Amino acid sequence: MDSIVVKGNGPVNGQIPIAGAKNACLTLMPATLLSEEPLTLTNAPRLSDIKTMAELLASLGTEVAGLQDGTVQALGTKEITNHVAHYDIVRKMRASNLVLGPMLARMGHAVVSLPGGCAIGARPMDIHTDALEKMGATIELKDGYLHAKTNGGLKGAVVPLRFASVGATENILMAATLAKGTTVIENAAKEPEIVDLAECLRKMGAQIEGEGTSRIEIQGVDRLHGATHPVVTDRIELGTYMLAPAIAGGEVELIGGRRNLLEAFCDKLEEADISVTETDTGLKVKNKGSRVKAVNVKTEIFPGFPTDLQAQMMALLCTAEGTSVLEETIFENRFMHAPELTRMGANIEVSGGTATVHGVDQLKGAPVMATDLRASVSMILAGLAAEGETVVSRVYHLDRGYEKVVRKFKGIGANIERVSN
Ligand code: UD1
Repeated sequence: MDSIVVKGNGPVNGQIPIAGAKNACLTLMPATLLSEEPLTLTNAPRLSDIKTMAELLASLGTEVAGLQDGTVQALGTKEITNHVAHYDIVRKMRASNLVLGPMLARMGHAVVSLPGGCAIGARPMDIHTDALEKMGATIELKDGYLHAKTNGGLKGAVVPLRFASVGATENILMAATLAKGTTVIENAAKEPEIVDLAECLRKMGAQIEGEGTSRIEIQGVDRLHGATHPVVTDRIELGTYMLAPAIAGGEVELIGGRRNLLEAFCDKLEEADISVTETDTGLKVKNKGSRVKAVNVKTEIFPGFPTDLQAQMMALLCTAEGTSVLEETIFENRFMHAPELTRMGANIEVSGGTATVHGVDQLKGAPVMATDLRASVSMILAGLAAEGETVVSRVYHLDRGYEKVVRKFKGIGANIERVSN
């Protein structure tokens, strides 16, 4: 299995192009199940999760092409030939559950494996299923699979979500485009990936209003057609690379970055004494040369501080002057990176959903291992600031969500290599 070796090498400088968003692409791809005509997604990231979604769509009867050149071309789904999303694929990637809404809307039935828990928490699907039941579906759990069907199609309804779940909002939004009548999603998630999905669905002929707010109204239509859509910028990749100069020193411009994708995160960087400026082509981040200041961080739904940047922010705060408190409110078990960072000399105490980080003068390189995607990249970031060599194993996590990660870090002068063991 491959590892990534990072050697602390002083400041980083240069530019990094930011890719299209993994999480947006993973919800745009299943939207192809809603139409017989082709859907082309440009600015798609080249990631293993995207291949997994293509594999799942292929198993349902949608041919997907062009994954290597940054486009995803789903050749339309004349007929959904298989209505079972198998455990073998769903267990690899939780976002596979995003085929449930579109399959149910298009065919009136779907069988989708429950994904099970993952390294960061239990991750149930009750919000998705409650909402689809309000729209007239009957859903039963049998042998680990959700068996969903409708009697004559989904019907529009008012669906209040008990929590603003990203995946549930996406599933319901897609399902409602072909439902009879009007659906109103209350307490909808507002993430940029949902706005992107709504924009794409509208290009396909859907009637949607209110995306980006907590109330989305969808007027069902009889059919959707093909479209071409560019995937929105990956705000989590953006935030991750913004932390490289913050932790290692230097100045880096993130090409394609926009502040409004990450307002709360940018505010926290500034509070830590890192400068963030908008340029004509992106966002520029500069470490002013002094030690970063401790800040308190609480993860929240958009537009709050994203949970997907909590591990990376923790790496930065390990080196800050003073004590920072990080509160994780979205997932119950998302501090698995803390003991690994501790192996690098960090001083972190975890108690329930709160981590207290006492900044240290100097991190030290160590062999570390991550249990999830964002935790893995937090260790690379820590390695940039550490004395000596950090070896990050289980690199397959990174392949799921960071395109050309070694090349991008090398491009700003980091001493980083991927090695095969
Ligand atoms: C998406 C993102 C993920 C991000 C998360 C929160 C994708 C592919 N993944 O995941 O990277 O970390 O949003 O921003 O876009 N919950 C329930 N019942 C449900 C659904 C969710 O209890 O039916 C809980 C989850 O266990 C979790 C919280 O709600 O604690 C947030 O989950 P959700 O917003 O649904 O995240 P995902 O869509 O899975």
